[in-house]
Amino acid sequence: MCGIVGYIGSQDSKEILLKGLEKLEYRGYDSAGIAVMNEAGVTVFKDIGRIADLREVVDYDVFASVGIGHTRWATHGVPSKRNAHPHQCETERFTIVHNGVIENYELLKQKYLKDVDLVSDTDTEVIVQIVNKFVNDGMVVEQAFSETLRLLHGSYAIALLDCENRDTIYVAKNKSPLLVGVGEGFNVVASDAMATLQVTDQYIELMDKEVVILTKDNITIKNLDGIVMERAPFKAMIDASDIEKGTYPHYMLKEIDEQPAVVRKIVQKYQGDSGKLTFDKKIINACLEAERIFIVACGTSYHAGLVGKHLIENMAKIPVEVHLASEFSYNMPLLPKKPLFIFISQSGETADSRSVLVQVKEMGHKTLTMTNVPGSTLSREADFTLLLHAGPEIAVASTKAYTAQLAVLSIVAEVLGRAQGFNLNIDLVHELSIVANAMSTLVEDKHTFEEIATEFLSITSNCFFIGRAHDYYVGLEGALKLKEISYIYAEGFAGGELKHGPIALVEKGTPIFCLATQEHVNLSIRGNVKEVVARGANPCIISMDGLQMEGDRYVLPAVHPVLAPLVGVVPFQLISYYASLHRGCDVDKPRNLAKSVTVE
Ligand code: F6R
Repeated sequence: MCGIVGYIGSQDSKEILLKGLEKLEYRGYDSAGIAVMNEAGVTVFKDIGRIADLREVVDYDVFASVGIGHTRWATHGVPSKRNAHPHQCETERFTIVHNGVIENYELLKQKYLKDVDLVSDTDTEVIVQIVNKFVNDGMVVEQAFSETLRLLHGSYAIALLDCENRDTIYVAKNKSPLLVGVGEGFNVVASDAMATLQVTDQYIELMDKEVVILTKDNITIKNLDGIVMERAPFKAMIDASDIEKGTYPHYMLKEIDEQPAVVRKIVQKYQGDSGKLTFDKKIINACLEAERIFIVACGTSYHAGLVGKHLIENMAKIPVEVHLASEFSYNMPLLPKKPLFIFISQSGETADSRSVLVQVKEMGHKTLTMTNVPGSTLSREADFTLLLHAGPEIAVASTKAYTAQLAVLSIVAEVLGRAQGFNLNIDLVHELSIVANAMSTLVEDKHTFEEIATEFLSITSNCFFIGRAHDYYVGLEGALKLKEISYIYAEGFAGGELKHGPIALVEKGTPIFCLATQEHVNLSIRGNVKEVVARGANPCIISMDGLQMEGDRYVLPAVHPVLAPLVGVVPFQLISYYASLHRGCDVDKPRNLAKSVTVE
């Protein structure tokens, strides 16, 4: 959600900003803009739509070695050129880009800006106008900036230009991600190192409520009381080729294809010297000391958590509850004396999950983040981190991170079970290698899933996914994948629940995807298929080798039943991909969605 990039140096900033914004496109946005500063002042270019649209309105003759850029995902005010960032104060002296939500902006407007005509509907404009007011009232800029930040309730990552001081970008953050990148004779600021990896791989992490005075040769970090903070840079461990599409038409397809390699890599990363799977002893102990584990997550990560619950309960015999982060505060479960909270988050930045993390940390509970992004907010703030090792996931629709989550959850379950001396009867290293091979077979069989997408989804406006046991949870994920990128209305149901309501939705020709990978429920789910067929549905049964029956549309290679979700989801990812493609949707950047959901 919203992305920020800034550059201060001696080169022309425009292309660095535009390329940076292109790298941030994956986060989701509906308008974009840049502001560049030179002797003539600050020039702002912005437009709704894609960076390609912004490129059309940029005047390439303007040379400016300082600039800030932004992709906006609308929160306050509709997506429009007027609401797009950068925003300026009424004198145009100050120019700002902001990521986050200022909860008290209406109050601030009434208190400080009664006489100012705001030109946008955004909370952001309030910030820049107050800085300007404080400077007009006699404060120096740095003080005005810090005083304004003190007033803000909510989240922000900010870069601010002052056209009367062309050597500086003022930067600040609270709860929204922002990094400073270190160069030779230049410095950058970005929401994500990916944006500026083209110019530097050295970054400095910023903490909440810090202010940075960025010049081309200096980076001064202070807290809001003006105390200077020293912090060494780290090397961003992202391989630039990981964030390129290569020959793929879409990131999503690339990421689906990467899944066998990701599963193999996870096994390798979690294998100890003895060849057995393992991870940090402190984490193992924290899990074993817990009376109950609470998995907290959103969207696809929540769906992974549902499968994870069963893996952990079956193998490690520790009770697990799974909660939607966005509902947790209103529906806080009764907590035992020693709970352990596991936050599953691809991005490690999801505001809903972070808010629960902050809440339970305040209560003194132990926390573990399972994330794909080392150094992300949730990773930094939790007591422990387990990494997913899936490599950057750029497509908005999560694919390889989901299967990576399942693989890591299975490892957690197995390690915890073994640590307690349980005889688990599963060689997980071997079984995960069978999963990786099965995934390879599926991704090589893409044309079949394209045919299925054509056959079942060409003309429909709705469709359902059914399953029992693990297959139900995979169906929920299949439905989410399909709806988010093809805009076909899709829901997942537990097979046994159909007759309690959802079956009323079935009409002649309604496509119903049924996953049948679990032997103990094979006959019952087949019974559910018969029920919907009797009402005219068009079923597409995807079963597993050994469980197939006449009429199944696809038979998955056999894998261990507890790992079947890792394989069962792949057809749904590919079917969703082709459905989206055939409908002419923007596969990697579906409407209204953002990759990194940094607002609650
Ligand atoms: C769907 C999807 C989202 C995310 C959700 C949580 O494809 O990607 O549902 O799973 O927004 O994001 P993370 O895992 O980054 O916390």
